[in-house]
Amino acid sequence: MIILLKIIKVEVFSLKKIAIMTAGGDCAGLNSVIKAVVMAAINRNMKVVGILDGYIGFVEGKYVNLDKSSVYDIETKGGTILGSSNKECPFHYLVDKKKEKYEDMVKPSIENLRKIGVEGMIIIGGDGTLDSARVIDEAGMPVVGIPKTIDNDMSASSPTIGFETAVQNSVEAIRKLKTTAFSHRRVFVVEMMGRTSGYLTLYGGFASGADIILLPELDYDLDVVCNKVKEIMESGKRYVIIAASEACKEKGKTETVARVLKDSFEQKRYGGIAEKLSKQIEEITGYETRPMVLGHLQRGGEPCTVDILLGARLGDYAINLLSDERHGYIVGAKENVLVKTRFPKIREPRVLDLEDNDIARTARDMGICFGV
Ligand code: F6P
Repeated sequence: MIILLKIIKVEVFSLKKIAIMTAGGDCAGLNSVIKAVVMAAINRNMKVVGILDGYIGFVEGKYVNLDKSSVYDIETKGGTILGSSNKECPFHYLVDKKKEKYEDMVKPSIENLRKIGVEGMIIIGGDGTLDSARVIDEAGMPVVGIPKTIDNDMSASSPTIGFETAVQNSVEAIRKLKTTAFSHRRVFVVEMMGRTSGYLTLYGGFASGADIILLPELDYDLDVVCNKVKEIMESGKRYVIIAASEACKEKGKTETVARVLKDSFEQKRYGGIAEKLSKQIEEITGYETRPMVLGHLQRGGEPCTVDILLGARLGDYAINLLSDERHGYIVGAKENVLVKTRFPKIREPRVLDLEDNDIARTARDMGICFGV
């Protein structure tokens, strides 16, 4: 008699409870990550706790329990249902504002999470957030990180969650601007976010048909910009759109900084280039030139489908790794394939290489001016 041995594979998920947190500047697509994580975790009989307001909630113990009803339909909403903050650092945390006293709060915060049964974390954020995530992982709480930023400058993923929506938002805004620019024969300098990375300005500027694109990667020559404005206006076109990165600068000059936040991982908040440049262009060319700051509108609103899909895929990948007790990774997508990399010890931003990037090449071939 042949005895058939049937091996039944029982999947054992050892983690019973995990926490999820969003930190850093918000963007579209974060709620898609949260939904994927919560749904996939619950299907593995894991409980999920949401940490509120980024590292503020981590340190101050502000949590909510998340179940399927908390994440119903959230993937189409912008921002993050958990809240976020882009200033606090858990290992250099301001515990006394008056005395300006900072403390390393990582270990006590991990202890608080352990007290409620949390055995692993998924942390979604930019470079600063994920640097702190590495510290938390090294301190004994298993973490998987998920990159997000409208700046698209993280080496762990290209694109990052939020980038595609921000491009779309800026394109929609600039298209509207073009109709009024046309009516009034005006030049517009459109200030776009992205910090020291030009991805958002290049892609958003190009897709909205900007005539001149000024990037932090390439210092501009004011004479070249003004001559181009005159050339376009004299050619019979009724308006000029200049897409200018918030951190772009004239050759030999410094960036325009709006404020400095001492506690923030990225301390500088850029701003003011549109105001400054539009005055200079009007003075030199004589054409009426107005500034337009797109600002946080680029980060806000509903995510586009690409960000919903990317958010869900990365959320699910993260929960799979964590359930397998694999941690200390950042998950991302490269050429649409999911990848994981170890938390880097040193920040390695993804730099926009204007010689290599084919949108930049296409723009150049089409005669779009980069101010040089
Ligand atoms: O890093 C994301 C980002 O939106 C940048 O593009 C922008 O410079 C910065 O954050 C704005 O930060 P805040 O929300 O603190 O003004």
